[in-house]
Amino acid sequence: SPLPSFDLVIFGGSGDLALRKLLPALFHRYRDGQIVDGTRIVGVARDDRSDADYREQVRAALAASMQQDDADNSGGAALAGFLQLLSYQHLDLAGDTGWEEFAQAMRRARRVRVFYLAVAPDLFAQAANRLAAWDLVDADTRVVVEKPIGTDSASADAINDALGRVFAERQIFRIDHYLGKETVQNLTALRFGNALFEPLWRAQHIDHVQITVGETIGVEGRAPYYDRAGALRDMVQNHLLQLLCLVAMEPPTSLDADAIRDEKLKVLRALRPIDAGNAAQLVVRGQYRDGAAEGRAVRGYAEELGRSSRTETFVALKAEVRSWRWAGVPFYLRTGKRLPARVSEIVVTFRPVPHSIFEGVSELAPNRLVLRLQPDESVTMWLMNKVPGPGGLRLRHVPMDLSFAETFGGRQADAYERLLMDVVRGNPMLFMRRDEVEAAWKWIDPIRAAWEVGNDAPKPYTAGTWGPSAAVALIERDGRTWHEDAA
Ligand code: BG6
Repeated sequence: SPLPSFDLVIFGGSGDLALRKLLPALFHRYRDGQIVDGTRIVGVARDDRSDADYREQVRAALAASMQQDDADNSGGAALAGFLQLLSYQHLDLAGDTGWEEFAQAMRRARRVRVFYLAVAPDLFAQAANRLAAWDLVDADTRVVVEKPIGTDSASADAINDALGRVFAERQIFRIDHYLGKETVQNLTALRFGNALFEPLWRAQHIDHVQITVGETIGVEGRAPYYDRAGALRDMVQNHLLQLLCLVAMEPPTSLDADAIRDEKLKVLRALRPIDAGNAAQLVVRGQYRDGAAEGRAVRGYAEELGRSSRTETFVALKAEVRSWRWAGVPFYLRTGKRLPARVSEIVVTFRPVPHSIFEGVSELAPNRLVLRLQPDESVTMWLMNKVPGPGGLRLRHVPMDLSFAETFGGRQADAYERLLMDVVRGNPMLFMRRDEVEAAWKWIDPIRAAWEVGNDAPKPYTAGTWGPSAAVALIERDGRTWHEDAA
């Protein structure tokens, strides 16, 4: 349903995130009638340019993103209407340039106002202070910040403190775009909308859980950011831990944002610490070398960067949630750049049957529930089935598949569409609360510290492979294997 008109200001309005994700998401919401005329979308950046220039830039970006998406529907009239919502504001976050004019324009309407800080985190505090100083923050104002919130606990605290001096917690929307992905939301639907899973969702019945987020891309133009971050901070601290939380959390009593976030927080706090004492057994980090990806030869990370580096582009680790429900159940996590496939999935492997009556007939493979986040969102339950035919009893492990595209049809909305509209609505359910971010960093910091103490470099892997062989050994040591669909 349409939302009352609002103001959305994107700091970093001509940046990569804005052009590739935020503006296409807003366009789709406009085209579907959820964003109404009269809404104002303001792109803010440092260079001087006209509204017309900005609209042209956005038009080109939309055309580019639409090609892969749904070119048939790039809709002339909708596009023209959408571009009319846009304006550009030349603004200097560190100086006074542009603020007077900007503040006046903003104050012209009293409505929900969203400031999206798509800029480097070291500018968050300054941006918040300026907005407050220009009297642009009232009860209906919201601020959106992207991960990573800082680089460790201390810097995250400083950022959260600075934001907290200007905005109340309910006004702060910390985006983890994985929470807006359809399959991720569907995990909650599956777990708590069916009677089937919850009784089995525990150590007695689940052998282990795997979470893989594989990417084929390298670091592209993001090397300056990425080299300071690395895969652990870029992906594990946020996306992978959030997925782990949604798998492992206790049933919340309702869909209330805090009810869910309280449960996720408990999981984060229950993670078994990984530190210098056990990191060598529990974590593998890697960095890609020359190889092949996306169907062509690609250079190694250091060559892309132009110098050697100890930054990891791959992490695999074994986590454990210390609770009655999960005691002894490993959660194997892995993510990396330049892997063989862009595939993200959560794999829940159940325990074997207690006794096989099929001895000598067929080997039984354990049941597996596979939630495929991307590409081709799907839910698959692997079951043992009889192979049809009169030739005697033989069993085979086969997938029972639910493809989102086949079942629900239509375009799969991008995560940012849902998340941006939730910000406007003021619904923080799919956003990270301050204490969650802090708890995640508290678990991550000792891992990084262990790497520093150990002074070891990431293990090399050939671009286009599933990381260093040590990542395979990490799980095979326990008598398990990475799920073969992904591997
Ligand atoms: C971002 C990371 O948060 O997520 C990127 O900073 C990564 O390094 C991206 O490529 C992956 O997102 P998606 O939606 O393409 O899986």
